[in-house]
Amino acid sequence: MDEKMVKAINDQINAELYSSYLYFSMAAYLDSINLKGCSHWMMAQMMEEQAHTKKFYDFLTARGGRVELAEIKTPPSDWESPLAVFENVLEHEQTVTGLINGLVDLALELKDHATNSFLQWYVDEQVEEEETADGILQNFKLNVDNPGGLFMIDKELAQRVFVPPTGVTL
Ligand SMILES: [Fe+2]
Ligand SMILES: [Fe+2]
Repeated sequence: MDEKMVKAINDQINAELYSSYLYFSMAAYLDSINLKGCSHWMMAQMMEEQAHTKKFYDFLTARGGRVELAEIKTPPSDWESPLAVFENVLEHEQTVTGLINGLVDLALELKDHATNSFLQWYVDEQVEEEETADGILQNFKLNVDNPGGLFMIDKELAQRVFVPPTGVTL
């Protein structure tokens, strides 16, 4: 594998770990304001980011690249409201989509077809991530002045069951 691609995937491993760290911090905030269902959802999201990380790890290792870890920056620990949390989730996922697109651009530039093919899974995954985050955000917006609605959202998010993506073992 081209060293530039190896470096870029290692950077993405760091970004996925940061995502996991950010969602872990959001889960703690949501617990602190007693939104147990929202916190549960966020813990599942945290695990999903670990699965994204592991999938990159497995690919890089399989291609003979070396995984090298770097410092993970400190995530925020406070938000203004649960609505602000989900605004942040959507904005963060949009940033990650940009990073994935950048990896695809590099794979194409290097004519690295294997990596390009592998990355398409993440391209599709980001569509889902943005759609899910936006859906929850819209629910919060509709219920911003409605405590009963907030209670319903919390109950709904409590139902999430984390299933690792096919082929990924944590
Ligand atoms: Fe991710
Ligand atoms: Fe996902």
